[in-house]
Amino acid sequence: MIPDSFVQELLSRVDIVDVVERHITLKKAGANYQACCPFHSEKTPSFTVSPSKQFYHCFGCGAHGSAIGFVMQYAGLGFVEAVEDLAGHLGLAVPQEVSTRSQEKAKQQPLTERMGQAARFYKEQLKASPKAIEYLKGRGLTGEIAARYGLGYAPDEWQGLQRVFEDYAGPALAECGLVIDSDQGRRYDRFRDRIMFPILDQRSNVIGFGGRVLGAGEPKYLNSPETVLFHKGEELYGLPQARKEIQQQNMVLVVEGYMDVVGLAQNGVQNVVATLGTAATGANIRRLIRLADRVVFCFDRDSAGDRAARRAMEVSLEHLVDGKSIEILQLDGTQDPDEFVREHGRDAFVKQTQNATRLSDFLVRKLVQESNPHTAEGRAKLVNEAKPLLQKIAAPILRVQITKEIAKHAQLSQSEVEAQCGLKPLVRNRFAPPPSRVHPSPNALERILLLTVLRRPERAARLPLDLISTESPEGAALLAVAEAIDQVALPAGNLGLLMEHFRGSPHADLIAGLASQAEREAEDEGEQEEVFLDAIGRLHQLSLQRQVDVLTAQARAGTLSTAERQTLASLLARKKA
Ligand code: GTP
Ligand code: MN
Repeated sequence: MIPDSFVQELLSRVDIVDVVERHITLKKAGANYQACCPFHSEKTPSFTVSPSKQFYHCFGCGAHGSAIGFVMQYAGLGFVEAVEDLAGHLGLAVPQEVSTRSQEKAKQQPLTERMGQAARFYKEQLKASPKAIEYLKGRGLTGEIAARYGLGYAPDEWQGLQRVFEDYAGPALAECGLVIDSDQGRRYDRFRDRIMFPILDQRSNVIGFGGRVLGAGEPKYLNSPETVLFHKGEELYGLPQARKEIQQQNMVLVVEGYMDVVGLAQNGVQNVVATLGTAATGANIRRLIRLADRVVFCFDRDSAGDRAARRAMEVSLEHLVDGKSIEILQLDGTQDPDEFVREHGRDAFVKQTQNATRLSDFLVRKLVQESNPHTAEGRAKLVNEAKPLLQKIAAPILRVQITKEIAKHAQLSQSEVEAQCGLKPLVRNRFAPPPSRVHPSPNALERILLLTVLRRPERAARLPLDLISTESPEGAALLAVAEAIDQVALPAGNLGLLMEHFRGSPHADLIAGLASQAEREAEDEGEQEEVFLDAIGRLHQLSLQRQVDVLTAQARAGTLSTAERQTLASLLARKKA
């Protein structure tokens, strides 16, 4: 855990305009800055950054957040990584005791440099090796794409890396996974006579390699082992090169192999990454979902590919979010994506991706295929097989839809399937917008108050705190915000800071949603003030009414004391006023 105080310090020092400008060009527009939104594709700018509120917001797609949120969303980083990234730019050290990660980072630095050195060495060796160049050309790759992906060649020597590393015998190269120590104590290069694919992290540091033999030979691919730098289950090959196109298309294509990524890129399909030798992991899916609204898995048409599809489906179910689409693409024929695009070209491939199967359809289709719903036994089997999968689905709307589908095939009602599968109603998803209420009720008033306070935090001081109940989420959030504003002393309404203060709290989503609404709706200050005062007035009225109701009930029951009778009379008088 990073202490809240550090996050606050970081956000009060960082300027969101600088942070955003590191990645996209902003244009001044009044008090704010504007650009075409990096999170969805658009021609006219609807992405705005407010320096006074330290908050960004897109009118088009609704993306919004603080400087930390921006880095998370833009780079697909986790919270801790985003904080570390921002702190790094400011030269701030993330407090040590908080994360073993930052200790790990300090240790990683020299290793990252060595990995970079190795990558440069392999690249030079490629230039010097006609047979490696020939191999890549034979696979349809140009020098341009080879350079874009930093492809290299590990020479056919036992200690080739000795030429670049003076400390070849030292511990660093072993920690990098670049060398292997034999039982006889002899050290030699892990990668020899292979085409080298460097694997980059978010910041384009080399953290690992994949190496392919030039022709036939075993193993076909050799990968870096797990190291401090390289966690296979978390990384996606080709992400830095694909990021821009993924954002532009709001779609990311996930394939199985290095050559598929490079081959597709060569043919103009650039929004593509690969999982590293393993099936997709939860960490992969979470990151992919953050990168784009549409995630399309494209697996080979073989048994390994089928297993990978099944596995990706199971893992995806746990991380699904309503509003995001995960799809499975099975190419016509038996070719892998690299072979397909080389033979049929970009357009034919893109056309295939448009016909990808949504995860929900894929799931139902697979289940129906595996059972035989034409018989009663088959229908029972269908529900049984569906049970563990349905239980995994985290997205409420989607789960209902899939449950309905299964029910149809099983000839049962939705609630029967739900009962059979032990499905409890899901709590509201954290990404879903808070439900809107039509009738003004106490929480509607509290919601209005929260909105107006978020627009102008100074208003918090004028809230009638004793009239706000923590029973509704809105009321609880309003009180929490008032308290936070009092404590944090938000500089000129720094919404970004406020939101980070609430990250991970039960109020976070409500506050984020309203903060975003506050940004979205044009504000007429005079009108806002009226709305604020009106809501407070109505809160007072409601409170009066409640007291009147209690006392009237007592009066009817004949239990009213003289003092209470007087109170009731004065309450009624105030109500009329
Ligand atoms: P090409 O034959 O070069 O076109 O590669 P491909 O991408 O078609 O290879 P394949 O479908 O056989 O493998 C897909 C991915 O699985 C590769 O990119 C590797 O990450 C991994 N892989 C394949 N073969 C091996 C192997 O022998 N060892 C290991 N560790 N991983 C492998
Ligand atoms: Mn292939």
